[in-house]
Amino acid sequence: MLKLTYSSLLVGLALAGASSVFAAPADTDKLAVQDQLPSQTATEYPRPPGWDKLPQGEFGEKVLRGYKNFVNTQTLSPQYVGNGLNCVNCHTDAGRKENSAPLWAAYMSYPVFRAKNNRINSFEERLQGCFQFSMNGSPPDYGSEALIDLSAYAYWLAQGTLTGKDFDPKDMEVPSDEDLLKGGLREDFPFMKAYLDKGGSKEPALPGRAYPETPTTALAPDIARGKVVFEQECSLCHGANGEGQQVNNRYVFPPLWGPDTYNWGAGMQRVNTAAAFIKHNMPLGQPNKLTDQQAWDVAMYLDTRDRPQDPRNKGNVAETRKEFHGKTSYYGTEVDGKILGSESFPNHPNKPK
Ligand code: HEC
Ligand code: HEC
Repeated sequence: MLKLTYSSLLVGLALAGASSVFAAPADTDKLAVQDQLPSQTATEYPRPPGWDKLPQGEFGEKVLRGYKNFVNTQTLSPQYVGNGLNCVNCHTDAGRKENSAPLWAAYMSYPVFRAKNNRINSFEERLQGCFQFSMNGSPPDYGSEALIDLSAYAYWLAQGTLTGKDFDPKDMEVPSDEDLLKGGLREDFPFMKAYLDKGGSKEPALPGRAYPETPTTALAPDIARGKVVFEQECSLCHGANGEGQQVNNRYVFPPLWGPDTYNWGAGMQRVNTAAAFIKHNMPLGQPNKLTDQQAWDVAMYLDTRDRPQDPRNKGNVAETRKEFHGKTSYYGTEVDGKILGSESFPNHPNKPK
């Protein structure tokens, strides 16, 4: 396999279009001259604001901290982050890109009932879910600064769904921390009327939300075919064993399986979710390059490789599968003579508790 050097890697990234990541201004004082909005192509999707719309003062600082933690989650407490990933790895363009589970759509979709834990979830609870499973960590407590900052960032990004490009940060209502953490899908949300007037929906299904499902294909997903796709389209960046690639101890290409990635409770370990993410986002910078069949096959290949244990496992894989995993998960099923989940990596692999 071709081994990447750092410079070829940067060239590769530039070619792949990865430079579109929404970079924060280095210095908040320079905001006025730094509008970092990527090219504003007209789309049917609500548009999140650019940095020129960052409110001044304490709330703006929360937004900026939330952004920084989102793109560089590794700098948060190792309690919260038990693997090598950053939120942005799965919510691309700093959580701004439609069809990549964008934060602006997410913010306007909570509180909502989730079958995953069988109760109504606030926005902060949904954030905790990604910490526990996608980040393989112990989630920050309710009301903690990390959750407030991330919620502030999401709320600010959602202003585009409420007021379009004419949104003026000076007029933005600044919710209390307690209100902020609940999410925007509620009668007493300060902007609900304006939101509905702009064509917003009370249903948690905004255009561009989550990852659009990849249609099922004539052939059922297949590991052997998926391995071929992986070797041809993915391993150059993600490594021959899905281990990712690091430069100076930081992943530039995130791991797909093994001890340092999402665990057996994460959304991405469901084959349909991985197929949807991959179809619209991978190979990097080439959305929709794969056929639907290739996306399903490679998703199955990834999601039958071992990874950190499901943190809900109390010692019995079969019971954990029965209680928490549907037919879109391979956890607890037999692949290559082994029950997946029976010898998984521990939670919080390399991090002190
Ligand atoms: C390994 C990939 C991965 C990582 C890393 C990840 N997430 Fe997620 N996230 C997902 C998936 C998959 C979903 C579910 C999307 C769906 O419903 O189809 C999701 C959903 C969400 C949602 C709800 C979206 C909605 O519309 O309901 C929020 C909010 C969220 N993640 C925030 C975060 C934050 C904050 C972090 C970092 C602390 C993070 N995620 C890290 C994969 C990831
Ligand atoms: C040109 C390099 C490159 C190629 C080729 C590539 N990826 Fe990625 N992949 C990335 C990068 C970089 C990210 C993180 C994206 C970000 O942070 O914006 C990523 C993220 C991911 C993620 C979510 C994060 C994680 O670690 O789980 C998955 C899943 C994934 N890629 C699967 C694939 C699959 C499957 C293929 C082949 C079809 C593929 N990638 C091809 C560079 C690449």
